[in-house]
Amino acid sequence: MESFDLRAIPLEETRALRREVLRPCMTLDELAAHEPAGSVAFGAFAGGELVAVGLVGPEGEPGDWRVRGMATREDARGRGAGSAILQALVQHAIERGATRVWCHARTPARSLYERAGFVVASGEFEPPRLGPHYRMELGAEQMDLGAEQMELGAPEQTPQCATD
Ligand SMILES: CC(C)(COP(=O)(O)OP(=O)(O)OC[C@H]1O[C@@H](n2cnc3c(N)ncnc32)[C@H](O)[C@@H]1OP(=O)(O)O)[C@@H](O)C(=O)NCCC(=O)NCCS
Repeated sequence: MESFDLRAIPLEETRALRREVLRPCMTLDELAAHEPAGSVAFGAFAGGELVAVGLVGPEGEPGDWRVRGMATREDARGRGAGSAILQALVQHAIERGATRVWCHARTPARSLYERAGFVVASGEFEPPRLGPHYRMELGAEQMDLGAEQMELGAPEQTPQCATD
């Protein structure tokens, strides 16, 4: 998988790409007005150019953090930038005490979230003009499994094979 320069960036740096990919009908000011307080953004850069962005911030029940605004430039898709951003957003949330990370995932992006451990937590629904979505969640259980797999490495050492 390609490696990207991944870093936290100001929210305003994400708006042009989010508008182009996700909300062409909104102005940059309208996008800014919909950014929840406390959100942070990450960007992935290739050759010095911003190719993918995503936001995360506390939203919902205590301990809940929401991922939103995931967008990769069309000519840069399918090279792992979106997955790298998602990993950075989840890591950021967990480091700040998140016990559940959730999102409203567009249906074609479902496998991106599933690869990161998210599970479908609703039926498919369709907000006006935005296409079909699922609520998806990464709960404490999936976070623990992810952490254990990272520590243990090999897939054959997954928890069901471990002894007490
Ligand atoms: C979703 C998106 C951010 C993924 O970025 P990316 O850099 O291509 O991501 P990766 O290369 O890490 O992973 C590719 C995954 O993107 C998803 N994807 C592919 N085509 C897609 C499309 N047209 N729309 C949405 N998601 C798509 C798939 O889940 C794919 O996973 P797969 O390889 O298992 O099929 C990017 O496709 C995009 O900007 N899509 C349009 C906007 C959007 O749907 N945003 C997500 C809102 S929840």
